[in-house]
Amino acid sequence: ELIIQTQKKGAKIQPTMYGLFYEDINYAGDGGLYAELIKNRSFEFPQHLMGWTTFGKITLQDDGPFERNPHYVRLSDPGHAEKRTGLQNDGFFGIGMKKGEKYRFSVWARLPQGGAKSKILIEIIKTNTMAEHQAFVTQELEITSSEWKKYEVILTPEMTESKSTLRIFLASPTTVDLEHISLFPVDTYNGHENGLRKDLAQALADIKPGVFRFPGGCVVEGTDLDTRYEWKKTVGPVENRPLNENRWHYTFPRRFFPDYYQSYGLGFYEYFLLSEEIGAEPLPVLHCGLVCQYQNKDMLAHVPVDELDCYVQDALDLIEFANGDVSTTWGKLRAEMGHPASFNLKFLAIGNEQWGPEYVERLEVFVKTIRKIYPEIKIIGSSGPKSDGEEFDYLWPEMKRLKVDLVDEHFYRNEDWFLSQGARYDNYDRKGPKVFAGEYACHIRKKKWNQFYAALLEAAFMTGMERNADVVHMATYAPLFAHVEGWQWRPDMIWFDNLNSVCTASYYVQQMFAVNKGSHTLTLTMDKKSVTGAEGQNGLFASAVWEEADGTYIVKVVNTSEIPQPVTLNFAGLGKNNKLSSGKCITLHTNDLLEDNTLENPNVVVPEESNVKIDGNILNTQLGAHTSTVYKFKL
Ligand code: AHR
Repeated sequence: ELIIQTQKKGAKIQPTMYGLFYEDINYAGDGGLYAELIKNRSFEFPQHLMGWTTFGKITLQDDGPFERNPHYVRLSDPGHAEKRTGLQNDGFFGIGMKKGEKYRFSVWARLPQGGAKSKILIEIIKTNTMAEHQAFVTQELEITSSEWKKYEVILTPEMTESKSTLRIFLASPTTVDLEHISLFPVDTYNGHENGLRKDLAQALADIKPGVFRFPGGCVVEGTDLDTRYEWKKTVGPVENRPLNENRWHYTFPRRFFPDYYQSYGLGFYEYFLLSEEIGAEPLPVLHCGLVCQYQNKDMLAHVPVDELDCYVQDALDLIEFANGDVSTTWGKLRAEMGHPASFNLKFLAIGNEQWGPEYVERLEVFVKTIRKIYPEIKIIGSSGPKSDGEEFDYLWPEMKRLKVDLVDEHFYRNEDWFLSQGARYDNYDRKGPKVFAGEYACHIRKKKWNQFYAALLEAAFMTGMERNADVVHMATYAPLFAHVEGWQWRPDMIWFDNLNSVCTASYYVQQMFAVNKGSHTLTLTMDKKSVTGAEGQNGLFASAVWEEADGTYIVKVVNTSEIPQPVTLNFAGLGKNNKLSSGKCITLHTNDLLEDNTLENPNVVVPEESNVKIDGNILNTQLGAHTSTVYKFKL
């Protein structure tokens, strides 16, 4: 029997409680959420023509119009009627195009040797086809100036192709220079030109996240200081944002993606905008002056503590970029990019998965300066990777001493860990910093991929977070996205290919909690003992909340055991004259624990909603084996 004390409003549940953690891993950014379809559009990969195939008379030049991206290509007449000059690009894993949709092709171009005009021919061709006509989109574009200018044309394919190729021919004898060759769907999320893939961004919005953490993860630190994520390089005109080598182009122990770079086309402005548009608090993570500590000790070339100035300045300038008025340097840039209003940044994380005294001494420098200038900003520290071990024991007291507002803990753990952690937060210090469970996912031993059982155990663990919402203020599953042809890490929350995406069981668990998070906790007892998790409670995990806005009582019960269990929900204290009316039950279940949704079969494990009748404020029901459930009742 679960007794829900309806009259004792407990802790306030933070609006940020359930959110999203985004990192450009698994081609989540370029090749994923960022809707650009051309790889190496500015010819700045270290091998400048990587991703491109060129033919005829084409040369690489390096004095282009964009200072940070100086390379471009020059196309000249091949000198024979049967010869062609041009280049082609296969996108990330091919270019996905949908029948009838509009795509914006754009290019910066000029006539370097003068002339009134020249022409290029743009084609989208089927990759690897033996058909007589390769192209299924053909469009001419006139280049009319010897000055660099942006040209655009809309392409509308008459067929759907998941793996096509963009091909450009020089179609006139006059030489042409081309730079920043780009192809975007017109229909991006909320229609932004430098926008996001609609299905992927919509999946984020549908979770109703309270917080959006970006841009990573290890990506923040980079492989070394040179490849760390520098937010200032990710703002301003996209043509002039430099390229960065992605931390995930090499993945221990054996996966290597030589062409995995970050164009920075999806940068901090876009992250702030997305946060705003999906209703989440933006939560940027900044480099703390330590390189990624997950590498050989001799590779650890950290920034000395007395040389942190420019890193701290980056943090201060970021706050100005997000919140400063338009008369400030960085606020002005934000306004020029299209957002004069403040992004209302409230949280800032310094460092990702860092540990030891080297972290604490650097964090202290940031905390002191930020507190002095922006006391209203909530600072998030890290607890290091060993969330139950030595580092953890060392860092929490240090975080308390530094008075950071929250501490970011990460858990990629196996099934035993998740089953044993229902009571994890019951004994956390109520006087110290609050918890941000910034990365977690259940990695089933020896089967480290998406499956329903992992999602079920995540749900069980989350009931413990929810019961302790006074101390747990944020939680975000990780990683968020993975391209089926380019992943470095699994399990992940949303998988996609060039055209479609699928939400996993873990996604639906997050969604079930986030959209039913309530405003206050309610005290819950199970068989007269306070609920602490699985131990001695037959594999049942539970939490209860109340939503002040509409008076809904919400109870989440997760049965991790392999047998169905009778469950009684007793809504105590409502009084004789207050009767709960019929409510709803949302269930996530599948018989095969190893199953999950796939692109081919996206509806294997999806939440199912049914009506539930309650009699006299007591519900007697049976909870199926391996089932996660949300019950909702109103007076
Ligand atoms: O989520 C994948 C990685 O896991 C993150 O980049 C890092 O923070 C953690 O080690």
